[in-house]
Amino acid sequence: MNQRPQIETCLSPIFVNQYDWSGKTVVVIDVFRATSTICSAIGHGAEAVIPVSSVEECQEIGEKLGAVMAGERGGHVIEGLQMGNSPLEYTPEVIEGKTLVLTTTNGTRLMQLVKDAQEIVIGSFLNLNAVTEYLKLKNEDIILACSGWRDHANLEDTVFAGAVIYALKSDFECVDDSSFMAESLFNRVGDYTSLQDYLKKATHYHRLVNLGAEADLEYCCLYNLHPIVPVLLDGIIKDVKVR
Ligand code: MLT
Repeated sequence: MNQRPQIETCLSPIFVNQYDWSGKTVVVIDVFRATSTICSAIGHGAEAVIPVSSVEECQEIGEKLGAVMAGERGGHVIEGLQMGNSPLEYTPEVIEGKTLVLTTTNGTRLMQLVKDAQEIVIGSFLNLNAVTEYLKLKNEDIILACSGWRDHANLEDTVFAGAVIYALKSDFECVDDSSFMAESLFNRVGDYTSLQDYLKKATHYHRLVNLGAEADLEYCCLYNLHPIVPVLLDGIIKDVKVR
């Protein structure tokens, strides 16, 4: 009998040591805003995105490659870098044909923590369908890895994990309670006027509103604007079609 591939959900980077990442396809999720920003940059023609953990690394690699250096800490733009972590900054005029080196508080850090995975896919609502179609074709065990906020679980990443599970559940088997919890949260979206309305419950939503980033939040809640599958391989993120 053919066994269906399995789905697990890691709700926060604090749980990373409880999972066996090797041989798994991992979807890294940071809806507000790192993975949405990466989708915006690649979707608007960036040659590649290089995620790094520290500002020093960002500057060193960026200067060596002549790349765009960008990032945030606590949501704030970092002094010494050229750009921040707003997906709206990465228009085709700004990013087409360029490489972006990006460091963020939670998202790019998680990408380093799960580096034993067989493949790391970048997921956001902006590329939800493209990612789920890709995962269906691959038909392999998956871990949905939520970036959360400073090791706490968060609503927006968990709801996105639930959206992936909802799309895959007839072909995959969920094997942990956190996947059930994520899907249950996603199923509540219909009780609200929109995804954005639901995600107003998220603490990081309010943190970003206080930083004047309302337009980013609206953008991050758009479904399927970029039909791309950014994949992190050997430290570099590119759309799977150009790998
Ligand atoms: C992160 O990686 O922590 C985030 O994307 C923070 C943000 O800029 O909103």
